Amino acid sequence: MAEVIEVKHPLVQHKLTMIRNEAVGTKDFRALVDELAMLLTYEASADLPLETVPVKTPVQETKAASLAGKKLAVVPILRAGLGMVDGILQLIPAAKVGHIGMYRDEETLEPVEYFVKLPDDIAQREVLLVDPMLATGGSAKDAISALKLRGATQIKLITLVSAPEGIKAVQEAHPDVTIVTAAIDEGLNDDGYIVPGLGDAGDRLFGTH
Ligand code: URA
Repeated sequence: MAEVIEVKHPLVQHKLTMIRNEAVGTKDFRALVDELAMLLTYEASADLPLETVPVKTPVQETKAASLAGKKLAVVPILRAGLGMVDGILQLIPAAKVGHIGMYRDEETLEPVEYFVKLPDDIAQREVLLVDPMLATGGSAKDAISALKLRGATQIKLITLVSAPEGIKAVQEAHPDVTIVTAAIDEGLNDDGYIVPGLGDAGDRLFGTH
């Protein structure tokens, strides 16, 4: 079963409480989402493999740790996932960035990809798939399938707020994908919003309604 890492770090919890506040405006919301994305990525990257490399300091030659293994790709799910990209790139500036946009056809309920643009070497990269809200899990599940279809084998899903329903849906469909989140909330209301949640993350990031 997919591992779920709920990041309890005090800075994460404090910043998350700030963005839950409906009085926080677009500018501060955006800055806090950036900071949270960075802090969650710090946790999500804690198991990256290291190798020992030679390094010459101004004092002497030595051996020290350096990242080894696969390079990373950050893939936001459009549109709210875009708000997390800059924060992640501040920690991992060499990561390539892909984009996935999908919606559900209202009649067939089948996922429809309207935009998928990924690095050519996505199969060779560890993927950080990002979306602030894991609600029903529908788009996350479909985005993971879209990544796997194109060869990605190592995928982590980073979210700010997750509903138990969304976690269950992702776990059942993709037991190999680790979920890193700042909070597991109570559930979903009749409109599909996470409760207590923080409202519509995309609208709050981009100042739309
Ligand atoms: N998407 C959001 O932006 N907010 C929710 O609460 C659920 C889905």
